[in-house]
Amino acid sequence: MLKLAQKDILRADQFSREEIDLIMETARGFEHELDGEKALETMRGKILSTLFFEPSTRTRLSFEAAMLRLGGEVISVAEAKSSSAAKGESLYDTIKTVEGYADVIVLRHPRIGAAAEAAAATNKPVLNAGDGAGQHPTQSLLDFYTIEKEQGKVEGLTVTLAGDLKHGRTVHSLADLLASYNVHFVFASPRALRMPTEIVEKLKARGVSVAETENLAEAVAASDVLYMTRIQGERFDDPSEYDRLKNAYILTRAMLARAKEGMTVMHPLPRVNEIATEVDSYPGAAYFRQAANGIPVRMALLALVTERA
Ligand code: NCD
Repeated sequence: MLKLAQKDILRADQFSREEIDLIMETARGFEHELDGEKALETMRGKILSTLFFEPSTRTRLSFEAAMLRLGGEVISVAEAKSSSAAKGESLYDTIKTVEGYADVIVLRHPRIGAAAEAAAATNKPVLNAGDGAGQHPTQSLLDFYTIEKEQGKVEGLTVTLAGDLKHGRTVHSLADLLASYNVHFVFASPRALRMPTEIVEKLKARGVSVAETENLAEAVAASDVLYMTRIQGERFDDPSEYDRLKNAYILTRAMLARAKEGMTVMHPLPRVNEIATEVDSYPGAAYFRQAANGIPVRMALLALVTERA
């Protein structure tokens, strides 16, 4: 229980399997009694500050809803231009200020490493809600929770990560989180958007089985879990390169005809064109259930880091 007390959550590779088990178990408990009186007492008197310097719907709202379901309060910066960052304030100064107002801080920032910088500035727990093309560890924990719930297990699965593997922080984090489990990865992407070599090499050095392909249809046929991602337009230096690649992968109902029975389709959302809406009625289309799982998982994280679980 004390394992995550006062800890920052910065990267998906920071967790032991024991810690992941604890988070999943705590989240299952909260999911069981989302409206319960007991949950409402958990964070009574505590304040969460959400600082979002990049756009968000799910991550910010689910952190805030999680805090409210735990009986805590929320103060929020929803966009950089409404905060003093727009006047040139440094991240350090913003965090030194907010630590005087809140018990726990959730930060989304366009710069890789920003959450670690924020964590170094304060003793209050900092949760990384996305640092540029870096990491998004709380998303990976809810992805893990979703895989276990949809598939009944994680071990032994073939997990395909598809789309913009170069810039996608959700897939960087998920690869790190699943690396301690016996999964077989397929990385499906256009050549220009391959998973960074450092990540592939790190996985291979740990003995994780990884295959790379450009052929989405082939990857779909091999998968137990298909994790689609958006081409991250905001991270491209060259807009014409984005135009060339933005519709590279579109999952259609016809492609699912070759899928294994019971395959789970995931997506961190927002989707742009990567999954045709006709796929939404496929029983394994789990992306909106996945988004909903953000609530119990973020309840668990908030309660664990503040020692209220
Ligand atoms: C993702 C993100 O912000 O990295 N969204 C999310 O948090 N669910 C994915 C994306 O923006 O493509």
